[in-house]
Amino acid sequence: MATKLTSIFFLLSSLALAVNSCPQSDQAALLAVKEALNEPYLGIFNSWTGTDCCNKWYGVSCDPTTGRVSDLNLRGESEDPIFEKAGRSGYMTGTILPEICKLDGLTNLVIADWKGITGEIPFCIASLTNLRILDFIGNRLTGVIPANIGNLQKLTVLNIADNLISGQIPSSIVNIGSLMHLDLRNNQITGQIPAEFGNLGMLSRALLSRNRLTGSIPRSISNMNRLADLDLSMNQLSGTIPDQIGTLPVLSTLTLDSNRLFSQIPASLLSDTGLNILNVSRNALEGNIPDVFGRKSYFTALDLSYNKFTGPVPKSLSSAEYIGHVDLSHNYLCGHIPYGSSPFNHLRASFACQ
Ligand SMILES: *[C@@H]1O[C@H](CO)[C@@H](O)[C@H](O)[C@H]1NC(C)=O
Repeated sequence: MATKLTSIFFLLSSLALAVNSCPQSDQAALLAVKEALNEPYLGIFNSWTGTDCCNKWYGVSCDPTTGRVSDLNLRGESEDPIFEKAGRSGYMTGTILPEICKLDGLTNLVIADWKGITGEIPFCIASLTNLRILDFIGNRLTGVIPANIGNLQKLTVLNIADNLISGQIPSSIVNIGSLMHLDLRNNQITGQIPAEFGNLGMLSRALLSRNRLTGSIPRSISNMNRLADLDLSMNQLSGTIPDQIGTLPVLSTLTLDSNRLFSQIPASLLSDTGLNILNVSRNALEGNIPDVFGRKSYFTALDLSYNKFTGPVPKSLSSAEYIGHVDLSHNYLCGHIPYGSSPFNHLRASFACQ
C-alpha cells in the first residue's frame, strides 16, 4: 500500500514537473541573454539559477499548457519590493542578444527603463510572431526598427520610446492590424510617416513626438476610427493639417506643436469634434481662426500660439462649453479674448480690429 502511494506520489510530482519545468532550449536562451546584460545594483539575475526557469526566475513566466517561456518582464522602474529594498531604480548595461529570438513562445517581452542598455534591437525580433507586447522604452538602444516588424501580427503594444533609434518607420508597420498602442517618442527617427498609416484600424494611441519626421501628415489617418491620442509634436512635419482629422470619432488629444505645418486650421478641429487637448503651437498656420466654437467645444487646453494667424479673435470662443487654458499669443490677431467662466489668458497681441 505504502509503495503504491509513493509511486502515485512520484507519478504526480513528475507530471507537475513536466508541466512546469523549463524547456532546456528556453533556459539556454535565457542564460545567453543574461550573459550579455549587467545589472549591478538589484541582483535581479541572482534568481536565475537551477534548472526550472519557470519557477521563481525573476521576470520569467511560462505558459501553463505549453510549458514554454511566455513572458520576459524586466522593468527598471517598478513597484517590486526588490527596488524598495535597494532604495533605487534600476540600471543595467549591456546589449540584447539575438539569442532572445530563440524564445519563440514569448507573448510579452519587456526590457524597459534600464537607462544603460545599448546596441541594436535584434533584427530577428520580427520572428517572435506570438508577441503581443514589445516594450523596450527607456534604454539607449541604437540602430533601426527591424524592417519586417510587420510580421508581428498579434502585436498590440509596440513601445520603443526614449531610446536613440534612427532610420525610418518601416512601411511594414501598417500591417500590424492588432496594434493599439504605438510609442516611438523621443528617438532620432527620420523620413516620413508611412502613407498607409491609417490602415492601423485598431490604433488608439499614436505617439511619435520628438523625432525628426518629415513630409506631411498622411491623409489615411482619417480612417483611424479608434484613434484617441495623436502626438506628432516636435518633428519637422510640413504640409497642411488634413481636414478629416477633425471628424475622427474618438480623437481627444491632438498635439502637432513645433512642426512646420502651414495653411489654415480646419474648422472641424475647433467646433464639435470631441477634442479636449489641441496644441498646434509653433507652426506656420495662417488665415483666420475659424469662428466656430460652440456648446460642444470642450477644451482643457487650446494652444494656437506662435503661428501666423490673422484677423479677429473668434467671438464664438465665449460660447464654448469649457476652455481651461487658451493661448493665442504670438500671432497677428486683433480683438480681445472674451471674458468667460474660464481663465482666458495669454493673448499677447490684443489691439483693435479695423
Ligand atoms: C504646446 O506646445 C508648445 C510647444 O511645443 C509648448 O511650449 C506648450 O507648453 C504646449 N501647450 C500646452 C497647453 O501644453
